[in-house]
Amino acid sequence: MSARGRGPALLIAPAAQALARQAAEMLCCLAVHDCRQKGYCSLALSGGATPRALFALLAATPLAAAFPWRDTHFFWVDERMLAYGHARSNYGTARRLLFDSVGVSKANLNPMPVDGDAGQAAAHYEETLRAFFHAHGQVDPVFDIVLLGLGADGHTASLFPGAPGRRLPDRWVRAVQGGDPAVARLILTETVLNQARRVLFLVSGSAKAKVVRRILESGQADLPAARIRPQKGNLIWLLDRFAAALLAEKTIAEMRPPPSGGH
Ligand code: 6PG
Repeated sequence: MSARGRGPALLIAPAAQALARQAAEMLCCLAVHDCRQKGYCSLALSGGATPRALFALLAATPLAAAFPWRDTHFFWVDERMLAYGHARSNYGTARRLLFDSVGVSKANLNPMPVDGDAGQAAAHYEETLRAFFHAHGQVDPVFDIVLLGLGADGHTASLFPGAPGRRLPDRWVRAVQGGDPAVARLILTETVLNQARRVLFLVSGSAKAKVVRRILESGQADLPAARIRPQKGNLIWLLDRFAAALLAEKTIAEMRPPPSGGH
């Protein structure tokens, strides 16, 4: 599963449920590895519908028993400024499908704030990140794992095509407006996403096949998802065969991960 020193890696699952299983097992395996090696794992989760099956798998036997809940610290890649109880709240969804049923301490959950002024909420979350990473001896916010989704228009997290003001290299979190529903949102900046050790894109369904091809075959750097290229980390695309349907055999072969299971 390691792609270090190569370009992005690609894994294709036969269907959505198999994709969720592969992703859940990979997350568990990486988190176990990190917790053994350095005592903790920092994981930034995405919203959207795609990770829901993955959350359900992590919440159930056998992964719930194997996952290192005590030493994994959860953050969010983006969030709508809606109450956590709202059906479109990313934290609320993860809580409902995953965290409510596993033994994770509340102290390990770092949802984005959703009240008050969006700019202040972004600054507040940036403080949360600084406190966490500094306490773990890091100057920069280097997440161990970032889980991302992909929209059919090429957006990822809450980075939307054509959205202005994306270059904020000094900021870790910013407030944006848009998406579905078009409400204020918080998002980790590209700077932070591209510093991660491993970025996993989880994409399923034929509605994403065209944009997957545009990103992986034509290198469409104008699309937000294509701008996610971790500087030093690994980029792994996890697709089901419907999302991968338009990819050329050559692309699939070139992006095949090496047989050795690295981390
Ligand atoms: C969100 C996500 C968003 C999502 C994509 C894909 O909160 O909605 O941050 O970027 O990952 O829109 O969503 P689906 O998985 O629902 O297709």
